[in-house]
Amino acid sequence: MNDETLVEMARDVQSQAHVPYSEYRVGASLETATGDIYVGCNIENANYSNSLHAEEVAIAEAIKNGATEFERIAVSSGRRDGVTPCGMCRQTLAEFCGDDLRVICDEGESTTEYTLGELLPDTITEETLE
Ligand code: THU
Ligand code: ZN
Repeated sequence: MNDETLVEMARDVQSQAHVPYSEYRVGASLETATGDIYVGCNIENANYSNSLHAEEVAIAEAIKNGATEFERIAVSSGRRDGVTPCGMCRQTLAEFCGDDLRVICDEGESTTEYTLGELLPDTITEETLE
């Protein structure tokens, strides 16, 4: 699957977002090493702090289904503003994905690509605690 198709999936799932507070829709599509795709959208809550981020929902779906290795994640907002995973989501991704995870951010006509290691260098991992 090409990057554009993965981005398209991150766009499509935004229709499921529950965003009455921010009205800022986010979608994420996560590809495993075996080519399976898990998508997530943001799901807000009236207490604000219980809100789930699109990347969290996508990785929860993937882990729940037994996925273990990840290649790419595309992230998109309704504004096509190149939104990147927030700090919390970067750390959540780092629990399950390597530094080389490709993070593809949707800017509408184009994308910007990072690696997870660029977005979150030198973070705490399972190895740190050994
Ligand atoms: N949001 C995400 O879904 N992922 C991120 O990493 C950035 C922020 C959501 C949370 C909230 O519902 C809205 O975007 C505005 O912050
Ligand atoms: Zn986040």
